[in-house]
Amino acid sequence: MSKKSNSSRRDFISNTIKGGLALGFGLSAVSPLTSCAAVKNIPVAVKTGFDQQPLPYAYNALENAIDAMTMEIHYSKHAAGYAKNVKEAAAAEAVDMTKPLEDVLAKISNYSAKMRNNAGGHYNHEMFWQCMRPKTDDNKPTGKLMEAITAQFTSFEYFKKQFGDAAKTRFGSGWAWLYINKNKKLTIGSTPNQDNPLMDLSDIKGFPVLAIDVWEHAYYLKYQNKRAEYVDNWWQLVNWDYVETRFNSLA
Ligand SMILES: [Fe+2]
Repeated sequence: MSKKSNSSRRDFISNTIKGGLALGFGLSAVSPLTSCAAVKNIPVAVKTGFDQQPLPYAYNALENAIDAMTMEIHYSKHAAGYAKNVKEAAAAEAVDMTKPLEDVLAKISNYSAKMRNNAGGHYNHEMFWQCMRPKTDDNKPTGKLMEAITAQFTSFEYFKKQFGDAAKTRFGSGWAWLYINKNKKLTIGSTPNQDNPLMDLSDIKGFPVLAIDVWEHAYYLKYQNKRAEYVDNWWQLVNWDYVETRFNSLA
């Protein structure tokens, strides 16, 4: 991945956040998250488009926890497939692809199963790539995010245990999330298949700030059936700067 691509992505994230804030998406400037699906009321500052964005690192950059072949297949086959298929579904269902994908997720119950699976799959993976970076030592959040995690979960270590448990115990294929719920509290949960907390039909609802993919395609080549080992190793890859960016976009 070139420095230019990384720079472009950073610019994109920065600009979308600024755009969100400019539109009044800052938490203090909007109505509270509502208990109904109401994803439309969630101040989404980090928007997602319909096109697959460049991976922000090389396939082998995460080798400490995820092997290069897994990354290549995951990004170029699985995730690329979701990106292709969500655009097919959008074209068939008259979705305006110039608008953020979040608009579709907020009303996903109105669309087809193909849209649900692929809009979710595309959004989740676009976020997942950003939630990771090459290994850093003593990897942990800072600032207001760390304060919020400590306040909500007692300690960073206990938060990791709870989040890890959600990831390890999600039955079958799915995702574990750290998200901001309707009461503006950090919450841990998981979803099946390619569902996510932005979907109006999801059991858990809110704005996601951290995601881990626990589909077998995310880890099976290296870990086989040992999902727990994948989850435990994954912590060294978490891009807390990105997670903080998402968190702070609502703060
Ligand atoms: Fe995946």
